[in-house]
Amino acid sequence: MNPVINGPLYAVVPAAGIGERMGAGFPKQYLSLAGKTLAEHTLNRLLSFAPIDRVLVAVSVQDPWWPTLGVSTHSRIATVSGGAARAESVRNGVTRALELGGENAWVLVHDMARPLVRLSDIQNLLDQTDSQGAILALPVVDTIKQADDGNHIAATLDRDCIWRALTPQLFPARALHDALQGDLAGITDEASAMEKVGRRPALVAGHSDNIKVTVPEDLALARFYLACQLGDEESML
Ligand code: CTP
Ligand code: MG
Repeated sequence: MNPVINGPLYAVVPAAGIGERMGAGFPKQYLSLAGKTLAEHTLNRLLSFAPIDRVLVAVSVQDPWWPTLGVSTHSRIATVSGGAARAESVRNGVTRALELGGENAWVLVHDMARPLVRLSDIQNLLDQTDSQGAILALPVVDTIKQADDGNHIAATLDRDCIWRALTPQLFPARALHDALQGDLAGITDEASAMEKVGRRPALVAGHSDNIKVTVPEDLALARFYLACQLGDEESML
């Protein structure tokens, strides 16, 4: 294990969203992908990653679906209450990580809506982090335009220094907890909270199959990527 990770490791999984853009009528993590819910795919992957001591799942107190999943009572899973915004759900999970693991705990925050994360990418994140933390991300491949108010092009940005942030994002629990105090407006990932307090987490290149299932067409893409991943596994046997 990377020596900067000097305490227990907890996965914090925000899962208290309503899936408005998916429009399924229930939270998208309960949609089915190849016979299992997205939530089960995500959690099974995190549970199969041995360095994670426990998985802390933030769900809405009004969520009737979560208790019906067998995995919700797994001995390495604990439930915390979700908040009105993603960052609040994360904050609740990080607070629990500190309670359970003390001041040296680390947290690996991962969206429930990303069921295809590769264990090898999680390992890379652990291997490559420094004491400031690190996130999985992807260098952009498109040419990036900055718009003016009227949707005309104001500038073309230098894409060599632009990355898309993914999850997991890995941080010392205490530092992230403190960064998540106060105003959470505009905090759409953990790294942005850390940046706001002057830290500079590392970028670790992930894979583009680690999609966040967001809109209906993402389900077909998730099915395709899952089949590719399973095919790759078989071809390695
Ligand atoms: N999330 C959360 N608490 C919230 C809002 C979101 O824990 N108050 C979680 C979601 O459940 C999801 C992750 O954060 O696992 C990423 O958020 P997103 O993809 O935006 O999911 P939803 O908020 O559910 O979707 P939408 O924004 O379309 O409603
Ligand atoms: Mg959302």
